[in-house]
Amino acid sequence: MIKIGIINGPNLNMLGKRDQKIYGKVSLKEINHKIESFAKKEDIEITIKQSNFEGEIIESIQHFSSQVDGLIINPAAYTHYSYAIADALRDCRIPVVEVHLSNIFSREDFRGKSVTAPACIGQIAGFGYQSYIFAIYALQDYLKKKSKESK
Ligand code: DQA
Repeated sequence: MIKIGIINGPNLNMLGKRDQKIYGKVSLKEINHKIESFAKKEDIEITIKQSNFEGEIIESIQHFSSQVDGLIINPAAYTHYSYAIADALRDCRIPVVEVHLSNIFSREDFRGKSVTAPACIGQIAGFGYQSYIFAIYALQDYLKKKSKESK
């Protein structure tokens, strides 16, 4: 069974209340529920974390690195400036997919730059909560191919 960890960064606990035109009306709890029921169908074990603190996010990355096969992260605003999170992602040595609910390239200029994405195998942005579902597909496919290659 594939194991995937999901980390959500600052302010994502406010989904459903924060800017609904950009992020929609669904809460993080509802999104997590949708992710968990999708993962169950695909026979994937999912563990989801959220933190508003950079150090806690780094500790979650470090912890997950020995517990799961791959990681999905929405670093939220840290995407645009946290070299510490980017380093932790590089050091964790498991495949990581970066996700964003919004299309970060169609918003303010500062959001068009991700310092964390270069430490990931890829990025999915702009599909609301479905970005997480597409990221699970991408990671599942990547891990299956890797395990075939190593046989
Ligand atoms: C976000 C995009 C970031 O620019 C922003 O700071 C967030 C959410 C997204 O999922 O669209 O908090 O990561």
